[in-house]
Amino acid sequence: MSYSSSNPSLVLIGPGNVGSGVLEQLALNGNISGYNHITVVDDGGVVSRLKRAEELLGLLQAKREAKERGLHLDSVIGGVPFKYEDFGNYFSDGDIIVNVLPTKFVASGGGQHASVRYDEAALSHGAHVVAAHKSAFGGNGYYRDLMNIAFSNGVFYVPAGALMGPTRAAEFLQHLRSYGSLSVVKVEGVLNGTTNYILSNMFEGMSFEDALGEAKTNKIAEPDPTDDIRGYDALSKAMVIPIMFQNLKGSEVYGINDSRSRLSTQDSHLIKGRENLGIEGITTKLLEKLKRKGQTIKLIGSYDASSGLVVVGPQVLNLDHPLSGLKGTTNMLVLKLEGTVQLDNILRNLYGNHNVFTERYGKTDRYTISIHYSALDLSGKIQKEGFKTIYTYDRKNNQITISGPGAGDSNTAAGLLGAVDKIRSTPDWLKSSLAKRNAQPSLADYH
Ligand SMILES: NC(=O)c1ccc[n+]([C@@H]2O[C@H](COP(=O)([O-])OP(=O)(O)OC[C@H]3O[C@@H](n4cnc5c(N)ncnc54)[C@H](OP(=O)(O)O)[C@@H]3O)[C@@H](O)[C@H]2O)c1
Repeated sequence: MSYSSSNPSLVLIGPGNVGSGVLEQLALNGNISGYNHITVVDDGGVVSRLKRAEELLGLLQAKREAKERGLHLDSVIGGVPFKYEDFGNYFSDGDIIVNVLPTKFVASGGGQHASVRYDEAALSHGAHVVAAHKSAFGGNGYYRDLMNIAFSNGVFYVPAGALMGPTRAAEFLQHLRSYGSLSVVKVEGVLNGTTNYILSNMFEGMSFEDALGEAKTNKIAEPDPTDDIRGYDALSKAMVIPIMFQNLKGSEVYGINDSRSRLSTQDSHLIKGRENLGIEGITTKLLEKLKRKGQTIKLIGSYDASSGLVVVGPQVLNLDHPLSGLKGTTNMLVLKLEGTVQLDNILRNLYGNHNVFTERYGKTDRYTISIHYSALDLSGKIQKEGFKTIYTYDRKNNQITISGPGAGDSNTAAGLLGAVDKIRSTPDWLKSSLAKRNAQPSLADYH
């Protein structure tokens, strides 16, 4: 990838699980040399002007030790106390802010959460923002406001972690949105890795309790997985699409007792409990019975542009349904489109020409994007990691399917850095005009 002439600086806010992955990959994958310098901000301190990989790795080690002792970056060598009011001192026009703060829609006092405030401040001061958090989609029109600020300052706002973070699906949707002649008319997807992991293990005979326990041990499920199990996490992700397309009219979660789950009344005695939401009440016995009939259950998020409604709930699917075969934490999004799309062009622009491997089968095109990166394992050794994102384009039905990992600290970090690299590789003379229509450069822009 070639970069623009002047190197930007990068500010990372939130060196937690995902943020540490970003810093680690910057240090280990040779990307740091492309930055003027790196600044890291946590909930109390800041360390600035880092220029070398060893300095970044040293900072990560110091941060880990400080955290164990309940301290922040102001306590490590080179660190100073940090207040929100100082934020603007740490970047200039054209720099890139990677916001990896926790996702909270509203602060406990009822005001705007820190993550959105930082985005707003950075964009208003002429910096690009790549955000891991989903706060912009929590209502109150945050996303629209942030896009307007980005627009008036000629910079990019990329909510890269909001939907299937490692795959960069949100960035892809922003790109689709910039094609005025194209609309997304229907969406269907499996958008929560924890529940898919639990359901696919239960389908193989494991109990709900054991599958959840295994998901917690493997750090797939949060210590409190209620929002995942009851469908609210999938709902917040499904809402990203209509919010981006400015068409959200309502949202709802239902459970397996609801008729929309398409469970036959003959099988309803195998449900546990009555007031269920999300995957609550689904039993291994029920999945075993459905399996014998050539069926399974998935937690599906859907959106219909004609009603503007987003709905999440379990659905009985035949085993030949594209979403039925999804295993473990893989997510999948199916977008039904109206209008023509140059998918090949978009993907090559987004992921880089040499990263996209294309195959054609009749009326279906398949694009595989392989991402590789180096990361440290628990013993501190450098390991090669990676994953694949697969796009298929069913030209007959004008339908795009995106599948890949839905989350994971290092894979999400790789997705964020992909978005950062895209901004860096866009020539300065093009950035402002593209940002104003929130587009990525296409070949036509260079002529
Ligand atoms: N994990 C995934 O797979 C995934 C996928 C997609 C999106 N995301 C999103 O990524 C974000 C980060 O997740 P995470 O698991 O890395 O969270 P985390 O481990 O809790 O890290 C959060 C970081 O933010 C810092 N922080 C909190 N409040 C702050 C404040 N007011 N000012 C400055 N810094 C502050 C914390 O500082 P201290 O270290 O000082 O406490 C910590 O470094 C979340 O929004 C999440 O939704 C995660």
